[in-house]
Amino acid sequence: MNIKFEEKYIADEAAIVIGLPENIKELKNFDELDTLLNGLTEEIISANVLSDKYGKVTTTGVTIQRQYRKVIAVGLGDSSELTALKVQKAVGKLFQFMAGEKDTEIQIILDTFSFEPEDVADAVGMMSAVSSHKLTGYDSSDKKQFHDELDITLVTKADVKSAYEHGASLGSSITLARDFATMPPNMLYPESFADQLAVHFKDRPHVKGEVKDFDTLIQEGFGLLAAVGKASVRKPRLVTIEYKHPDATDDAPIALIGKGITYDSGGYSLKSRNGMRSMKYDMSGAANVVGMMDAITKLELPVHAVAVLALAENMVDGNGMRPDDVYKSLSGKTVEVSNTDAEGRLVLADAVYYAATKFSPKIMMDFATLTGAVIQAIGENRTGVFTNQGRKFINNLLISSKVTGEDIWHLPMSEQEDERVKKSDIADLLNADFKPGGASFAAAFINQFTEGTPWVHFDIAGTSNTSRSTPFAKKGSTGVMIRTILDLIESGTLYE
Ligand code: BES
Ligand code: MN
Ligand code: ZN
Repeated sequence: MNIKFEEKYIADEAAIVIGLPENIKELKNFDELDTLLNGLTEEIISANVLSDKYGKVTTTGVTIQRQYRKVIAVGLGDSSELTALKVQKAVGKLFQFMAGEKDTEIQIILDTFSFEPEDVADAVGMMSAVSSHKLTGYDSSDKKQFHDELDITLVTKADVKSAYEHGASLGSSITLARDFATMPPNMLYPESFADQLAVHFKDRPHVKGEVKDFDTLIQEGFGLLAAVGKASVRKPRLVTIEYKHPDATDDAPIALIGKGITYDSGGYSLKSRNGMRSMKYDMSGAANVVGMMDAITKLELPVHAVAVLALAENMVDGNGMRPDDVYKSLSGKTVEVSNTDAEGRLVLADAVYYAATKFSPKIMMDFATLTGAVIQAIGENRTGVFTNQGRKFINNLLISSKVTGEDIWHLPMSEQEDERVKKSDIADLLNADFKPGGASFAAAFINQFTEGTPWVHFDIAGTSNTSRSTPFAKKGSTGVMIRTILDLIESGTLYE
């Protein structure tokens, strides 16, 4: 994609893109807009050619210097009710519309959006990257991304370059995560995922990485991660990515932990043919943590952050994990495996314990497509959130999620579940009982390995991918929680 910045509209081939708030006459630059629309702005709206209805995209043509030009407008509704999120959604709809029309050159008259030009520029940067993104290269066409071909000029007197770049940066981190999640499991497996991450983060300032291979995991006692991954010919890996900005005020890092099951067949507790479908997304937690680290490092945020990714493929084999097996975790606690399909909590147990003891983080957050139960509880459009701290601890997280529109819901986890996870007849812990409240049980299981570190667990089973398109993404993987966690870190409220 090509981006340019101009202080005023300069007539050329490009389509003219405007925002259209209801109270159009109150717009600061109404006269500028009205000139572009041949002095007919109000008539065009009252004749219903262009619509100011929020989120509606309409087009018309105007003559400028005797040339016929296309005008694309996105309705913004009542401008006093606009928020940064509503601007992002409107801009997302705009790009999705343009992807359908195959426009290649546009000038966006930024001040017609009747919102802070920096916020609009940020939205253009992000939404042009994410809203119509699709993973390419897996069919025989040589289709390119719509946004790669696009030529955008942002027209405003304000200095919006860095705001635009911020949005574009975050947007490309989200598409990075989505691409990893979408890759087919025969091509993206623990080793290949780790290799691609090593290439991706190589040469990033202040970044160090480490990959533990299967032998190392066994030697060092990662008994649960090794057990889950051993049945696959593609053996498990543990990937660590550490970023420490020189201006980081705190020595103790933020730890971001991701479930990275590159395929979840269920193992011997095999999934049904329908239940197995789309289990390539079972590494979305790890992919989204990669997206967060990508954004944090590109934006060079002044923080200390570590990512720990537990990568394994849950398969069936003569040497596979059996229901009834007992394994020793990295922490020393033993686990009876009652169901091999409850594998996510097993790999996370070792990853969370490793993060807690190796890095003494100030806060740990894990992201995992962990349970079908969370979907039963709160639907497929909310992320379930659990913490070993009081509700106040996640207050700022709840605020960030309101800002980004990524819905989360605080779910319970208490002594009740602590009792349940200890109900093995033979080992310290049991990986699954088959009682109601499965998402809370899974959270409590992971909490057995947090060593008292303040911790927040995100069950993204419902939100990691979607069957319907939104302004932020077409159907498929979503990169959920990247925007929320970045907002939380950038707002500086994470540690409050
Ligand atoms: N990866 C699944 C959870 C999942 C289910 C994610 C549906 C997305 C959509 C997880 O590993 C799993 O299989 N969980 C089991 C746990 C059960 C065996 C205790 C489940 O939820 O059925
Ligand atoms: Mn499973
Ligand atoms: Zn799984």
